Amino acid sequence: MALLESKLPRVGTTIFTRMSALAAECEALNLSQGFPDFDAPLALLDAMARHVMAGHNQYAPMAGVMPLREQIATQVALHRGVTCNPDSEITVVPGATEGIYCAIMACVNPGDEVIVFDPCYDSYEPSIELAGGRAVHIPLLEKRVEKRAKHTFSIDWERVESAITSRTRLIIINSPHNPSGSTLSRKDLLQLQALVEQHQLLVISDEVYEHLVFDGQQHNSVLQFPGLRARSFAMFSFGKTFSVTGWKTGYCIAPPALTVELRKVHQFVSFVAVTPVQMAVADFMRDDPAYPATLADFYQRKRDLFCKALSNSRFSFTPSAGTYFQLLDYSAITESPDTRLAEDWTRQLGIASIPVSVFYQTPPRQCYLRFCFAKSDDVLLEAADILCAI
Ligand SMILES: Cc1ncc(COP(=O)(O)O)c(C=O)c1O
Repeated sequence: MALLESKLPRVGTTIFTRMSALAAECEALNLSQGFPDFDAPLALLDAMARHVMAGHNQYAPMAGVMPLREQIATQVALHRGVTCNPDSEITVVPGATEGIYCAIMACVNPGDEVIVFDPCYDSYEPSIELAGGRAVHIPLLEKRVEKRAKHTFSIDWERVESAITSRTRLIIINSPHNPSGSTLSRKDLLQLQALVEQHQLLVISDEVYEHLVFDGQQHNSVLQFPGLRARSFAMFSFGKTFSVTGWKTGYCIAPPALTVELRKVHQFVSFVAVTPVQMAVADFMRDDPAYPATLADFYQRKRDLFCKALSNSRFSFTPSAGTYFQLLDYSAITESPDTRLAEDWTRQLGIASIPVSVFYQTPPRQCYLRFCFAKSDDVLLEAADILCAI
């Protein structure tokens, strides 16, 4: 008899862990997992060392150190034109993943349904299942506008409406979207707003790539739509914004009534986020408030470098609209399943990527691999050389 009946029988080690481990084993270029291969701004690293040495190493207040919450409120006002109360609406969390888990635990009851969109970030469904809920997967509409160009992924709002039942409690959106690199428009958020108001639903809005939106487009946050603001947990990650994914620190903005419930869970999952990280990020945000606004240009240049270097390859692709991920369609090369190809190319060609089918409940017939372009220029050019030779 099993010693323990698994609560997550279908869950194994995540694809990100597996592909990064395989990349290390094969000494392959690792464009699989989403993290930069370059360091964070020196001033941020210095601030971290300073706070550790100054003895800021004990528990922070449960909701986060106040100087950081105040800096977050200042930045949200600057970037989104929205006021939020650092005391009652902002909670610092040890990574967006923990914030999302706590928000799901706070609002999903056994038997509740949660609408998610495939391809879907891998942490959502296990968290929903642990809360006793059920994920209802809606595939994003994939449009191929021309034969070799324009792959876009968008939400079919009619399908969302028809998926809503009396059990639906929550909708989870993610924009800019991992893995597709697509973004939600104002019109999308207005449609979401109408639905959640009509059906009295809550929203988790995963906006960890909020500053990585390209080609002069603006990020659309749920915070900017009053009807969504009133019903949403908006999640952000300093790991993505400040190139410190290993520091696992982010924050949640939600109206006071939702924040109270989020904090009830958060205080018994992790209790707090790491103190010196919070102090260091607060200093950096205060001293260099313009830094997040530089990210779009920085990553767009990397995206363009990678895409240009692939222009003579056999892959087809549309440059990513947001995030630091680029999908490449390999259908002109082979019909192999993406999971096999990602592994084969890591072993045989020395380049690791993420197969997109793993983000689906029912993978459609597609041939996409996801490549992370948060890498040094040399690595991106070397990766493109390998890919062009296929
Ligand atoms: C869409 C999305 N949400 C959440 C996260 C996790 O963020 P954090 O590292 O702050 O937990 C990631 C990380 O890759 C992500 O891609």
